[in-house]
Amino acid sequence: MEQLLEELRQGLPRGEIPAALFGNDEIYNLELRKIFARCWVFLGHDSEVPASGDYVRRKIGEDNFIVVRDEDGEIHALFDACRHRGVQICRADSGNTEIFRCPYHGWAYDTKGNLLGAPLWKKAFGGMSKEENGLLSVAKLATYHGLIFATLDPTTPPLEEYLGGMKWYLDLVFGLNKHGIEILGPPQRFVIDANWKSGSENFSGDDYHLGTLHRSVWAIGAFPVSFADNMMGYHIQASAGHSLSFSMAPTEDDPGPKFFAYPDDLAASFNTARIDQEQLRVARRSRVFVGNVFPNFSILAAPMTDDGAHFPPTGVLTIRTWQPMGAGKFEAWNWFCAYRNMTPQQKERVYKSGLASFSMGGVFEMDDTEPWILAARTGRSVTAEVLDFKLNYKMGLPGIGIAKRTENWAGPGIVYSPRYEEGVQRNFFRFYSELMRAERGTWPKFSLE
Ligand code: FES
Ligand SMILES: [Fe+2]
Repeated sequence: MEQLLEELRQGLPRGEIPAALFGNDEIYNLELRKIFARCWVFLGHDSEVPASGDYVRRKIGEDNFIVVRDEDGEIHALFDACRHRGVQICRADSGNTEIFRCPYHGWAYDTKGNLLGAPLWKKAFGGMSKEENGLLSVAKLATYHGLIFATLDPTTPPLEEYLGGMKWYLDLVFGLNKHGIEILGPPQRFVIDANWKSGSENFSGDDYHLGTLHRSVWAIGAFPVSFADNMMGYHIQASAGHSLSFSMAPTEDDPGPKFFAYPDDLAASFNTARIDQEQLRVARRSRVFVGNVFPNFSILAAPMTDDGAHFPPTGVLTIRTWQPMGAGKFEAWNWFCAYRNMTPQQKERVYKSGLASFSMGGVFEMDDTEPWILAARTGRSVTAEVLDFKLNYKMGLPGIGIAKRTENWAGPGIVYSPRYEEGVQRNFFRFYSELMRAERGTWPKFSLE
């Protein structure tokens, strides 16, 4: 395993990554400790738990957490394991309660995780401290535009520092108007026999696959920009590990879709209440935003339709996590988002168009999962191991392809255009490589290349 990590470190400047990273069990076990037990991990949106007592069950790595709003309105992420024998307490995906009661012997906890009591308390535990037997909690929890993140490591930098330059782009998507976003319905979940990093690196900005893998999407009129035009735009290494990509019109006067093809009356509410003029101008030219907050939180805003013959594509915002379940298995969690000031009809368009495109049965998602399954098979193959198989991430390296670094850009990060470029993925793996080799308690120093 140490050899694999060393090969990664040395190969990255040349765009070479050992295939075994997508299938090796030891690497996976280390990822749970070095990545998921240290990074800020996305848990949900505060609109999913609007009232006191509202809760949803979420994951950090493979472990369950109860994300709950307490009676004072504060959100907690409690490790879902009873302090008596470690039994999982919460059996529902979501709900509202004042008390979480363990099914084994009946210990009861409040919405802050405090132990309230247990059956036959005096006889069984009289004299024992309740304070020391509350549910364990994440080390830190913070929200950004209502997005709830948590970390298990108290030494991880604060969320806003961790996001760094990525904040500018999250502002641009989630702060387009003063109303903000809400989640439409519970998340969809589906298990894929592939490695979680395939989702993260794809959403870091793999636009190159659209013309091949998703060719059929154009055939049914579900996407309003030609493949060649869609490759125009920018690849951005926003900050350590966090990358994104914009498909963008050449000018603000371009006749194509504006603001990700959101309806004109909604777009009229996009303003500078929460973002600046430059962010608004970038959003106006944008057709697609796709990005990944390290390690496994992805965001996509793009024009979609479920029925091209009757409805033009409309902006759809989906957020997702790639929840690890092993070196060769992950669960995709998929939420659709609406701006709160959308009409009910507009929200319905978003939901139906999202379901038809980026969901278990969506035309994009069904395409995407298949190659990720095949890549994971190579990742765990003996042949890849003994023949020392390296994957190719060379697109856009000096002398390779047409992408050029551009300084003419209003936002933070390192920016390349057009989108024939894989520096966005190399940024993901450079930070990954640093973290996989870092000791707990020290946070890697990282500079964008
Ligand atoms: S394990 Fe929860 S009460 Fe005993
Ligand atoms: Fe795709």
